[in-house]
Amino acid sequence: MSTAAEVPQGPRKVCVIGWPVEHSRSPTIHNTWLARYGVDGEYTKLAVTPEELADTIRYLPSLGFRGANVTVPHKEAAFEALAPFVDPPAERLQAVNTIYRDPDTGEIRGTNTDGIGFWTHLQQSVPGFSGRTAVVLGAGGAARAIVDVLETEGRMKVRLVNRTVARAASMVADIDAKATVYGWDQIDHALEGADLLVNTTTLGMAGQPDLEIDLAPLSDTAVVYDIVYVPLETRLLKAAAARGLKTVDGLGMLLWQAAPGFARWFGIEVTSEDVDAARALIEADLAGETDTEKDS
Ligand code: ATR
Repeated sequence: MSTAAEVPQGPRKVCVIGWPVEHSRSPTIHNTWLARYGVDGEYTKLAVTPEELADTIRYLPSLGFRGANVTVPHKEAAFEALAPFVDPPAERLQAVNTIYRDPDTGEIRGTNTDGIGFWTHLQQSVPGFSGRTAVVLGAGGAARAIVDVLETEGRMKVRLVNRTVARAASMVADIDAKATVYGWDQIDHALEGADLLVNTTTLGMAGQPDLEIDLAPLSDTAVVYDIVYVPLETRLLKAAAARGLKTVDGLGMLLWQAAPGFARWFGIEVTSEDVDAARALIEADLAGETDTEKDS
Protein backbone atom coordinates (compact mmCIF):
# COMPACT_ATOMS: atom_id res chain seq x y z
CA MET A 1 0.00 0.00 0.00
CA SER A 2 1.26 3.49 -0.89
CA THR A 3 1.87 6.03 1.82
CA ALA A 4 1.38 9.79 1.98
CA ALA A 5 5.12 10.27 1.56
CA GLU A 6 4.95 8.90 -2.02
CA VAL A 7 2.32 11.39 -3.21
CA PRO A 8 3.83 13.91 -5.64
CA GLN A 9 4.34 17.40 -4.23
CA GLY A 10 1.80 20.18 -4.70
CA PRO A 11 -1.64 21.08 -3.40
CA ARG A 12 -3.57 18.19 -1.83
CA LYS A 13 -7.10 19.40 -2.49
CA VAL A 14 -9.31 18.08 -5.31
CA CYS A 15 -12.93 19.01 -6.04
CA VAL A 16 -15.93 18.10 -8.15
CA ILE A 17 -17.23 21.00 -10.21
CA GLY A 18 -20.95 20.97 -11.01
CA TRP A 19 -24.11 23.08 -11.05
CA PRO A 20 -25.82 21.96 -8.90
CA VAL A 21 -23.24 19.71 -7.23
CA GLU A 22 -24.90 18.82 -3.91
CA HIS A 23 -26.01 15.37 -5.15
CA SER A 24 -22.47 14.24 -6.04
CA ARG A 25 -21.18 11.01 -4.43
CA SER A 26 -17.62 11.64 -5.58
CA PRO A 27 -16.47 13.14 -2.22
CA THR A 28 -17.49 9.91 -0.44
CA ILE A 29 -15.42 7.86 -2.88
CA HIS A 30 -12.23 9.93 -2.90
CA ASN A 31 -12.24 10.84 0.80
CA THR A 32 -12.58 7.13 1.62
CA TRP A 33 -9.51 6.37 -0.50
CA LEU A 34 -7.52 9.34 0.88
CA ALA A 35 -8.17 8.01 4.39
CA ARG A 36 -7.30 4.41 3.45
CA TYR A 37 -3.93 5.50 2.04
CA GLY A 38 -3.20 8.02 4.82
CA VAL A 39 -2.99 10.93 2.37
CA ASP A 40 -3.41 14.30 4.02
CA GLY A 41 -5.75 15.58 1.29
CA GLU A 42 -9.34 16.64 0.88
CA TYR A 43 -11.97 16.22 -1.85
CA THR A 44 -14.71 18.85 -1.81
CA LYS A 45 -17.70 20.02 -3.87
CA LEU A 46 -17.46 23.26 -5.82
CA ALA A 47 -20.70 24.78 -7.12
CA VAL A 48 -19.74 26.68 -10.28
CA THR A 49 -22.12 28.45 -12.68
CA PRO A 50 -21.66 28.10 -16.44
CA GLU A 51 -20.40 31.69 -16.54
CA GLU A 52 -17.71 30.97 -13.93
CA LEU A 53 -16.50 27.67 -15.41
CA ALA A 54 -13.66 28.73 -17.72
CA ASP A 55 -12.05 30.99 -15.09
CA THR A 56 -12.46 28.35 -12.38
CA ILE A 57 -10.60 25.83 -14.53
CA ARG A 58 -7.88 28.33 -15.39
CA TYR A 59 -7.31 29.25 -11.73
CA LEU A 60 -7.64 25.75 -10.21
CA PRO A 61 -3.97 25.62 -9.09
CA SER A 62 -4.04 29.10 -7.59
CA LEU A 63 -7.28 28.16 -5.79
CA GLY A 64 -5.22 25.38 -4.16
CA PHE A 65 -6.53 22.44 -6.19
CA ARG A 66 -4.40 19.62 -7.54
CA GLY A 67 -7.15 18.58 -9.95
CA ALA A 68 -10.90 18.18 -10.32
CA ASN A 69 -13.78 16.14 -11.59
CA VAL A 70 -16.35 17.81 -13.80
CA THR A 71 -19.99 16.80 -13.72
CA VAL A 72 -23.33 17.88 -15.19
CA PRO A 73 -23.79 20.30 -16.95
CA HIS A 74 -20.14 21.27 -17.51
CA LYS A 75 -18.42 18.33 -19.25
CA GLU A 76 -18.65 19.78 -22.80
CA ALA A 77 -17.77 23.33 -21.69
CA ALA A 78 -14.77 21.98 -19.76
CA PHE A 79 -13.58 20.36 -22.99
CA GLU A 80 -13.89 23.72 -24.78
CA ALA A 81 -11.97 25.44 -21.97
CA LEU A 82 -9.11 22.89 -21.96
CA ALA A 83 -8.66 21.95 -25.66
CA PRO A 84 -6.16 21.25 -27.14
CA PHE A 85 -4.75 20.01 -23.80
CA VAL A 86 -7.00 16.94 -23.68
CA ASP A 87 -6.41 13.17 -23.83
CA PRO A 88 -7.81 10.97 -26.66
CA PRO A 89 -11.05 9.82 -24.95
CA ALA A 90 -11.95 13.43 -24.11
CA GLU A 91 -11.07 14.47 -27.66
CA ARG A 92 -13.32 11.78 -29.15
CA LEU A 93 -16.23 12.55 -26.79
CA GLN A 94 -15.63 16.32 -26.76
CA ALA A 95 -16.29 16.11 -23.03
CA VAL A 96 -14.02 16.22 -19.96
CA ASN A 97 -14.81 14.61 -16.59
CA THR A 98 -11.32 14.70 -15.01
CA ILE A 99 -8.76 17.54 -14.84
CA TYR A 100 -5.17 16.92 -13.75
CA ARG A 101 -1.72 18.42 -14.02
CA ASP A 102 0.69 16.62 -16.33
CA PRO A 103 3.72 15.80 -14.13
CA ASP A 104 6.16 16.15 -17.05
CA THR A 105 4.97 19.34 -18.74
CA GLY A 106 3.13 20.99 -15.83
CA GLU A 107 0.13 21.54 -18.15
CA ILE A 108 -3.42 21.40 -16.82
CA ARG A 109 -5.07 18.69 -18.94
CA GLY A 110 -8.52 17.16 -19.35
CA THR A 111 -9.44 13.53 -19.82
CA ASN A 112 -12.58 11.42 -19.76
CA THR A 113 -12.77 8.28 -17.59
CA ASP A 114 -16.52 7.56 -17.92
CA GLY A 115 -16.09 4.94 -20.64
CA ILE A 116 -13.22 3.13 -18.97
CA GLY A 117 -15.16 3.21 -15.67
CA PHE A 118 -18.05 1.46 -17.41
CA TRP A 119 -15.74 -1.10 -19.04
CA THR A 120 -13.68 -1.85 -15.91
CA HIS A 121 -16.83 -2.49 -13.88
CA LEU A 122 -18.05 -4.89 -16.59
CA GLN A 123 -14.72 -6.77 -16.54
CA GLN A 124 -14.73 -6.88 -12.73
CA SER A 125 -18.33 -8.14 -12.61
CA VAL A 126 -18.05 -10.65 -15.47
CA PRO A 127 -14.36 -11.60 -15.63
CA GLY A 128 -13.16 -12.23 -19.15
CA PHE A 129 -16.30 -10.79 -20.71
CA SER A 130 -16.14 -10.47 -24.46
CA GLY A 131 -18.86 -10.47 -27.07
CA ARG A 132 -19.60 -9.47 -30.64
CA THR A 133 -22.77 -7.41 -30.42
CA ALA A 134 -23.92 -4.84 -27.87
CA VAL A 135 -27.24 -3.01 -27.70
CA VAL A 136 -27.13 0.42 -26.05
CA LEU A 137 -30.43 2.06 -25.10
CA GLY A 138 -30.36 5.88 -24.98
CA ALA A 139 -28.30 8.63 -26.60
CA GLY A 140 -27.45 11.06 -23.76
CA GLY A 141 -24.03 11.93 -22.33
CA ALA A 142 -23.47 8.55 -20.68
CA ALA A 143 -24.34 6.68 -23.90
CA ARG A 144 -21.61 8.58 -25.78
CA ALA A 145 -18.87 7.34 -23.47
CA ILE A 146 -20.28 3.80 -23.43
CA VAL A 147 -20.66 3.43 -27.21
CA ASP A 148 -17.13 4.79 -27.62
CA VAL A 149 -15.54 2.35 -25.16
CA LEU A 150 -17.52 -0.64 -26.46
CA GLU A 151 -16.17 0.06 -29.95
CA THR A 152 -12.60 1.01 -28.98
CA GLU A 153 -11.80 -1.27 -25.98
CA GLY A 154 -14.45 -3.95 -26.53
CA ARG A 155 -14.19 -4.07 -30.33
CA MET A 156 -17.94 -4.78 -30.35
CA LYS A 157 -20.56 -3.97 -32.97
CA VAL A 158 -23.00 -1.56 -31.35
CA ARG A 159 -26.71 -1.22 -32.05
CA LEU A 160 -27.90 2.09 -30.64
CA VAL A 161 -31.60 2.31 -29.81
CA ASN A 162 -33.19 5.65 -28.97
CA ARG A 163 -36.68 7.14 -28.81
CA THR A 164 -35.46 10.15 -30.82
CA VAL A 165 -33.64 8.58 -33.78
CA ALA A 166 -32.19 11.89 -35.03
CA ARG A 167 -30.47 12.46 -31.67
CA ALA A 168 -28.86 9.01 -31.83
CA ALA A 169 -27.73 9.60 -35.43
CA SER A 170 -26.10 12.93 -34.58
CA MET A 171 -24.42 11.36 -31.53
CA VAL A 172 -22.89 8.64 -33.74
CA ALA A 173 -21.62 11.29 -36.16
CA ASP A 174 -20.25 13.50 -33.34
CA ILE A 175 -18.14 10.77 -31.77
CA ASP A 176 -17.24 9.18 -35.10
CA ALA A 177 -18.74 5.84 -34.03
CA LYS A 178 -19.73 2.96 -36.30
CA ALA A 179 -22.91 2.10 -34.38
CA THR A 180 -26.14 1.28 -36.25
CA VAL A 181 -29.13 3.35 -35.12
CA TYR A 182 -32.56 1.88 -34.35
CA GLY A 183 -35.85 3.48 -33.30
CA TRP A 184 -37.57 2.38 -30.09
CA ASP A 185 -40.17 0.44 -32.13
CA GLN A 186 -37.33 -1.70 -33.60
CA ILE A 187 -36.03 -2.78 -30.20
CA ASP A 188 -36.88 -6.50 -30.64
CA HIS A 189 -34.93 -6.56 -33.88
CA ALA A 190 -31.96 -4.77 -32.27
CA LEU A 191 -31.86 -7.25 -29.34
CA GLU A 192 -31.77 -10.32 -31.62
CA GLY A 193 -28.82 -12.51 -30.56
CA ALA A 194 -26.99 -9.66 -28.78
CA ASP A 195 -24.30 -10.50 -26.17
CA LEU A 196 -24.68 -7.33 -24.09
CA LEU A 197 -27.58 -4.99 -23.32
CA VAL A 198 -26.88 -1.63 -21.66
CA ASN A 199 -29.55 0.75 -20.41
CA THR A 200 -28.37 4.37 -20.34
CA THR A 201 -31.85 5.92 -20.43
CA THR A 202 -33.51 7.39 -17.36
CA LEU A 203 -36.16 4.66 -17.48
CA GLY A 204 -36.09 2.57 -14.29
CA MET A 205 -34.60 5.37 -12.18
CA ALA A 206 -36.48 6.19 -8.94
CA GLY A 207 -39.36 8.49 -9.86
CA GLN A 208 -39.29 7.52 -13.57
CA PRO A 209 -41.32 4.89 -15.43
CA ASP A 210 -39.82 1.38 -15.52
CA LEU A 211 -37.99 0.06 -18.55
CA GLU A 212 -40.22 -2.77 -19.67
CA ILE A 213 -38.87 -4.69 -22.63
CA ASP A 214 -38.94 -8.31 -23.69
CA LEU A 215 -35.48 -9.83 -23.16
CA ALA A 216 -36.32 -13.06 -25.03
CA PRO A 217 -34.45 -12.09 -28.26
CA LEU A 218 -31.10 -11.70 -26.41
CA SER A 219 -28.48 -14.45 -26.60
CA ASP A 220 -28.81 -17.04 -23.78
CA THR A 221 -25.37 -16.02 -22.48
CA ALA A 222 -26.02 -12.27 -22.67
CA VAL A 223 -25.06 -9.81 -19.93
CA VAL A 224 -27.54 -7.07 -18.95
CA TYR A 225 -26.00 -3.87 -17.56
CA ASP A 226 -28.13 -1.04 -16.17
CA ILE A 227 -26.24 2.18 -15.41
CA VAL A 228 -29.11 3.36 -13.19
CA TYR A 229 -28.08 2.94 -9.51
CA VAL A 230 -31.08 4.35 -7.68
CA PRO A 231 -32.51 1.77 -7.21
CA LEU A 232 -29.54 -0.58 -7.37
CA GLU A 233 -31.61 -3.51 -8.61
CA THR A 234 -33.87 -2.12 -11.32
CA ARG A 235 -36.82 -3.91 -12.83
CA LEU A 236 -34.68 -4.54 -15.94
CA LEU A 237 -32.02 -6.33 -13.86
CA LYS A 238 -34.68 -8.36 -12.02
CA ALA A 239 -36.16 -9.45 -15.36
CA ALA A 240 -32.69 -10.36 -16.67
CA ALA A 241 -31.89 -12.42 -13.56
CA ALA A 242 -35.25 -14.19 -13.88
CA ARG A 243 -34.23 -15.18 -17.46
CA GLY A 244 -30.97 -16.57 -16.04
CA LEU A 245 -28.80 -13.79 -17.53
CA LYS A 246 -25.79 -12.22 -15.79
CA THR A 247 -26.48 -8.71 -14.50
CA VAL A 248 -24.31 -5.66 -13.77
CA ASP A 249 -25.59 -2.70 -11.74
CA GLY A 250 -24.77 0.99 -12.23
CA LEU A 251 -22.89 1.86 -9.05
CA GLY A 252 -19.59 0.28 -10.09
CA MET A 253 -19.31 2.54 -13.15
CA LEU A 254 -19.32 5.58 -10.86
CA LEU A 255 -16.67 4.00 -8.64
CA TRP A 256 -14.40 2.80 -11.43
CA GLN A 257 -14.49 6.11 -13.32
CA ALA A 258 -13.12 7.66 -10.11
CA ALA A 259 -10.14 5.28 -9.89
CA PRO A 260 -8.10 6.63 -12.86
CA GLY A 261 -8.57 10.20 -11.60
CA PHE A 262 -7.29 9.23 -8.15
CA ALA A 263 -4.28 7.58 -9.79
CA ARG A 264 -3.46 10.70 -11.81
CA TRP A 265 -3.76 13.05 -8.83
CA PHE A 266 -2.14 10.98 -6.11
CA GLY A 267 -0.11 8.32 -7.95
CA ILE A 268 -2.08 5.54 -6.21
CA GLU A 269 -3.85 2.72 -8.08
CA VAL A 270 -6.80 1.69 -5.95
CA THR A 271 -7.67 -2.00 -5.58
CA SER A 272 -11.06 -3.71 -5.86
CA GLU A 273 -11.09 -3.85 -2.03
CA ASP A 274 -10.81 -0.03 -1.97
CA VAL A 275 -13.66 0.17 -4.49
CA ASP A 276 -15.76 -2.21 -2.35
CA ALA A 277 -15.13 -0.05 0.75
CA ALA A 278 -16.38 3.09 -1.00
CA ARG A 279 -19.27 1.16 -2.49
CA ALA A 280 -20.45 0.00 0.95
CA LEU A 281 -20.60 3.62 2.16
CA ILE A 282 -22.57 4.79 -0.88
CA GLU A 283 -24.95 1.85 -0.59
CA ALA A 284 -25.59 2.74 3.06
CA ASP A 285 -26.14 6.34 2.04
CA LEU A 286 -28.60 5.34 -0.69
CA ALA A 287 -30.47 3.07 1.72
CA GLY A 288 -30.68 5.96 4.22
CA GLU A 289 -32.14 8.24 1.56
CA THR A 290 -34.72 5.65 0.59
CA ASP A 291 -35.71 5.32 4.27
CA THR A 292 -36.07 9.10 4.55
CA GLU A 293 -38.22 9.14 1.44
CA LYS A 294 -40.42 6.45 2.98
CA ASP A 295 -40.58 8.35 6.30
CA SER A 296 -41.56 11.67 4.77
P1 ATR B 1 -27.57 11.45 -19.69
O1 ATR B 1 -26.90 12.62 -20.31
O2 ATR B 1 -27.49 11.41 -18.18
O3 ATR B 1 -27.14 10.13 -20.28
P2 ATR B 1 -30.03 12.42 -20.92
O4 ATR B 1 -29.23 13.29 -21.82
O5 ATR B 1 -31.10 13.06 -20.09
O6 ATR B 1 -29.13 11.58 -19.93
O7 ATR B 1 -30.66 11.25 -21.81
C1 ATR B 1 -31.69 10.48 -21.36
C2 ATR B 1 -31.96 9.33 -22.34
O8 ATR B 1 -33.14 8.65 -21.88
C3 ATR B 1 -32.26 9.79 -23.77
O9 ATR B 1 -31.73 8.85 -24.67
C4 ATR B 1 -33.79 9.79 -23.80
O10 ATR B 1 -34.32 9.61 -25.08
P3 ATR B 1 -34.52 10.87 -26.10
O11 ATR B 1 -33.16 11.16 -26.67
O12 ATR B 1 -35.49 10.38 -27.09
O13 ATR B 1 -35.05 11.99 -25.24
C5 ATR B 1 -34.08 8.57 -22.94
N1 ATR B 1 -35.44 8.60 -22.40
C6 ATR B 1 -35.93 9.38 -21.42
N2 ATR B 1 -37.24 9.11 -21.19
C7 ATR B 1 -37.59 8.11 -22.07
C8 ATR B 1 -38.80 7.39 -22.35
N3 ATR B 1 -39.93 7.63 -21.66
N4 ATR B 1 -38.78 6.44 -23.32
C9 ATR B 1 -37.65 6.18 -24.02
N5 ATR B 1 -36.46 6.85 -23.80
C10 ATR B 1 -36.44 7.79 -22.85
